Amino acid sequence: MSETNAPSLSEAGFDLATVDRLLSTTRAVRRRLDYDRPVPRDVLLDCIRLSQQAPTGTNAQHWRWVVIDDPGKKKALGEIYARGLPMLDESAKTARDAQTADVYRHARTLAERMGETPVLVIPCLEGRLEAPDSLVLATTWYGSIYPAVWSFQLALRSRGLGSTFTTMHLAFEEDARRVLDLPEDVVQTAMLPVGYTLGTDFKRTERPAPETITHWNGWNA
Ligand SMILES: Cc1cc2nc3c(=O)[nH]c(=O)nc-3n(C[C@H](O)[C@H](O)[C@H](O)COP(=O)(O)O)c2cc1C
Repeated sequence: MSETNAPSLSEAGFDLATVDRLLSTTRAVRRRLDYDRPVPRDVLLDCIRLSQQAPTGTNAQHWRWVVIDDPGKKKALGEIYARGLPMLDESAKTARDAQTADVYRHARTLAERMGETPVLVIPCLEGRLEAPDSLVLATTWYGSIYPAVWSFQLALRSRGLGSTFTTMHLAFEEDARRVLDLPEDVVQTAMLPVGYTLGTDFKRTERPAPETITHWNGWNA
């Protein structure tokens, strides 16, 4: 490779073109999952290992990952997830723009095939939040899993796998708990259908300009 083709490294030594592509093209993958290709467990463990570098409040590291690749359990979880379809259809009626309407349409497609996904990953927190109405406790508690979940999803994407962050099954938390054999004090926080993607050329999506959502030195300054 000639010098002119060498990737330009940031001051911190990162190839920004690659890092920015990863951060801007990790999409919710619903229609382009390869439902037939198995996902090796060691790939999932690599991604979980990377996710463990994420922050947690009080350094609690109370994350737990329940990974389901048993067809019977996946089917049961898929059926539980699909019970949320009326909720989804109700929300779809008030989609605020075409992009959001598409999201609901694709979410419906995923809901119908959830149980066929190669792997269902349920990130959990060990321990229950005792005062869910305390803002500081709630943000510290649930804020301790979602950075790790996103790192996990980015790690998947970098390895040719895709996922979608979903929460719909939490409306039926107790039924899912029984399928997962979870102890009472372990809380589910999401369900990620995971599989290899069909193709890897995912694109950036439209988002508002950062200037329109950023407030310098206070809301009204
Ligand atoms: C808190 C949260 C809950 C979500 N719940 C669901 C869900 O239940 N089902 C689903 O299909 N997608 C769900 N999503 C995914 C979003 O709908 C997704 O980010 C949106 O479709 C935008 O797609 P993109 O990430 O590819 O831009 C959820 C995302 C977040 C952050």
